[in-house]
Amino acid sequence: MKLWGGRFKNAESKLMEDFNSSLSFDKTLYYEDIIGSIAHVKMLVKCEIISEEDGNKIIEGLDSILKDIEEGKLKIEGDYEDIHSFMEVNLIERIGDAGKKMHTARSRNDQVALDMRLYSKKRAQEVVENLSRLLGTIKTLAEKNDYIMPGYTHMQRAQVVTFKHHMMAYFNMFSRDKKRIENSIEIMDESPLGCCALAGTTYNTDRAFTAKELGFKGPVNNFLDGVSDRDYIIELTSDFSLAMMHLSRLSEEIIIWSTKEFDFIQLSDEFSTGSSIMPQKKNPDAAELIRGKAGRVYGDLVSILTTMKGLPLAYNKDMQEDKEGFFDALNTVLSCIKIMNGMLATLKVKKDSLLKAVKHGFLNATEAADYLVNKGMAFRDAHRVIGEIVLYCEEKSLPIEDLSIEQLKEFSGLFDKDIYEFIDYENTLHKGIKKHMR
Ligand code: ARG
Repeated sequence: MKLWGGRFKNAESKLMEDFNSSLSFDKTLYYEDIIGSIAHVKMLVKCEIISEEDGNKIIEGLDSILKDIEEGKLKIEGDYEDIHSFMEVNLIERIGDAGKKMHTARSRNDQVALDMRLYSKKRAQEVVENLSRLLGTIKTLAEKNDYIMPGYTHMQRAQVVTFKHHMMAYFNMFSRDKKRIENSIEIMDESPLGCCALAGTTYNTDRAFTAKELGFKGPVNNFLDGVSDRDYIIELTSDFSLAMMHLSRLSEEIIIWSTKEFDFIQLSDEFSTGSSIMPQKKNPDAAELIRGKAGRVYGDLVSILTTMKGLPLAYNKDMQEDKEGFFDALNTVLSCIKIMNGMLATLKVKKDSLLKAVKHGFLNATEAADYLVNKGMAFRDAHRVIGEIVLYCEEKSLPIEDLSIEQLKEFSGLFDKDIYEFIDYENTLHKGIKKHMR
């Protein structure tokens, strides 16, 4: 069932028909396609391009199609080229000749561009809402667990931080992700409806009316750009890729922290899995899947960027390839945010393990060097002195604070009893993170 065929003598090959069809995936756009058509038809009536009577018949027909789809009475399937053909053919079947007027002053090029903008806007908003929820969970987890822990560089114990400060680093990352998506929504908020195939139309249409009706800031201001712009899909997929990168880094930490070697956290049973052979296993599959799915979203981004890079203006059928990857990226990032939220809301932080790790990593070595600097030594010399002390302590399996003042004086006469308070872990924390950060 086609919308075209007048200029053809022979039927399309079945192979070509299947190859060309996008219905199996653009059926996702059914709601946007219907509300877009209703706004278009209202405009056609207002501008006296079709009669009010025909307009009302079309709108009633579209409403009944929407109702039937949502009640499961009408399945979106069959030999249609795409969701737009499906709607028009079904409408004509329902209401007769008036249905043939719906596509006046419109092309599928501006129609699909409109559907995709409406759909992207709505679903991107859903990602924003889920990111807000995740931010709330991270904040609660951070505040509840303001415990001292080792901070790392090169995966080696470096200086004292807190679990709260560590988690708030992710809070900042996800806040930026949220802002980026909000900004992308703001940039894409223009209606392409009325651009028609590529050059507008001879009818006296009202693009500002349909833009307003559909909740856009206004209409796009170039027809060729309007029908061939897919920047917003690329931009959103790029925003999602960044968010996936952050989710993946956090997942990596969760995986490491939940090993027996680290033992910093305990994942809840709800977000863990077992092994079919090893009865003792409790695996962090949720975090591993998120880490794995980041690659998939990056793939979606590279795919759409590559599809668009060589396309001349205006619409080209290559653009039909924008959908599957984008829908996949959207659904993937959404499910990962929800799973991360669940995992963080239910995990337990092991305060004692964190503290134990702090005591065995010379995490106050930098502050011990700062102590000598305060007593007048140049930092580079202090660095060397403390390095020698660390070597000595390593041989004796002792932390710096367990050396006696006599032992310390062997390395430098500048050491005094106040060193112990200066390099106390809680104190270093108060002088560093807590003084300078919220
Ligand atoms: N299925 C097409 C797409 O997703 C819709 C637009 C088709 N336009 C056309 N002139 N063939 O891009």
